Amino acid sequence: MTGPELRKISLGRPGQAKAAPVERAEMSQWSRRELFALPGGIYLDGNSLGLMPHSAREAVLRRLGEWQTQGVSGWDDWFSLAESLSPAISRLLGAFPREVIVTGSITANLHALLSTIYRPSGVRRHLLATALDFPTDLYALQSWAALHDTELRLIPSRDGQTIHEGDLLSALGPDIALVLLPTVLYRSGQRLDMARLSALVHEAGALVGWDAAHSIGAMPHELHESGADFAVWCHYKYVNGGPGAPGGLFLHERHHALMPALRGWWGNDKASQFEMTARFRPASGAAAYQQGTPPILSLAALEGSLEVFEGLDLAELRTRSLSLTDTLIALADVQLPELRVLTPRDQARRGGHVSLAHPEARALSAALRSRQIIADFRAPDVLRLAPVALYNTEAELEETVRVLRELLDSGDYKEAAPGGLVT
Ligand SMILES: Cc1ncc(COP(=O)(O)O)c(C=O)c1O
Repeated sequence: MTGPELRKISLGRPGQAKAAPVERAEMSQWSRRELFALPGGIYLDGNSLGLMPHSAREAVLRRLGEWQTQGVSGWDDWFSLAESLSPAISRLLGAFPREVIVTGSITANLHALLSTIYRPSGVRRHLLATALDFPTDLYALQSWAALHDTELRLIPSRDGQTIHEGDLLSALGPDIALVLLPTVLYRSGQRLDMARLSALVHEAGALVGWDAAHSIGAMPHELHESGADFAVWCHYKYVNGGPGAPGGLFLHERHHALMPALRGWWGNDKASQFEMTARFRPASGAAAYQQGTPPILSLAALEGSLEVFEGLDLAELRTRSLSLTDTLIALADVQLPELRVLTPRDQARRGGHVSLAHPEARALSAALRSRQIIADFRAPDVLRLAPVALYNTEAELEETVRVLRELLDSGDYKEAAPGGLVT
């Protein structure tokens, strides 16, 4: 990998007097692009589904071959496949391997953790989340509020896009037992400060958990050091583990003496799992929160995708990601004044994607797709663009912004018919 390089990018609008070229430090040579199967066109949707690393395909084929040739004997190796991924996953999150496990989905893992760790008692009874959380997180929290006859309170958003720390503090009353926060908000791309907010929640006497779906694989984390009680995430976005890849959970080691409330035989200690007795003996650490037989072929894709991160400096990955989002914001500011940048400009408050608001965002996203530029739309008016540090380039961002400008000028986007689920 080479060091930072200075590169000039023109931010001017085509057909107009060009703005002065802007010089900025960026790591233009920094890329793992060759490790991925690149579909044609420009792919800017890695915050929804990351592209396929060649190593993921190879790992699935290898595991399929084992099934083909070994049948059930393959389990000798597959038995500990999920646990074997914990060192690589824990590195992405700044945790100990025993504090993480690949299993379930974000939704299922929230249920598994909340069932165990959320114990309302006395006045400290209620749950707190943000009004901008991904819906499944809210649904899971609502389930546990209903089961315990407590409330899910929501931290309001002042601008409909971001969460203000002051509003979190005001909502953190003495009756809050547990707070769930997103590391990065899925619509606006606002990043919340895990270390700082975890400490604030703990000072207020509540437990804190994080949904790291939009940050794992895009930036370093300090989950253990932050003192967070638990976390959940998926591997299908920036970790590139494939559609429907199994998720992950983190439980801080200070909670490892707890007995999982929702038990299954796959959470049993491995040494005694096949004794098949009526007594559940929990595996040590986060592994005890597994429930049923893991999906080996899906784990294989993740196993392969994690090879991309081997030896990767996560601070460099973040630097590259910020450089790309800086570039995109700067291009949008100059060339797309009709689109409002919703993502915080302050780097420390920004995740890996950039959200642009426009009343016709759905049609713009569909028109981009018809020109092989894959972004996505989030209702009611957000166009999300994720320049992924591992495989996207400045040239792709320049071309995307050029096409958007052309669409806005010509009005051609009005003819684009939205197709598919996520345009
Ligand atoms: C922040 C966040 N949480 C949860 C989910 C989905 O959860 P699950 O993996 O259970 O489908 C998503 C999906 O995009 C997400 O962005």
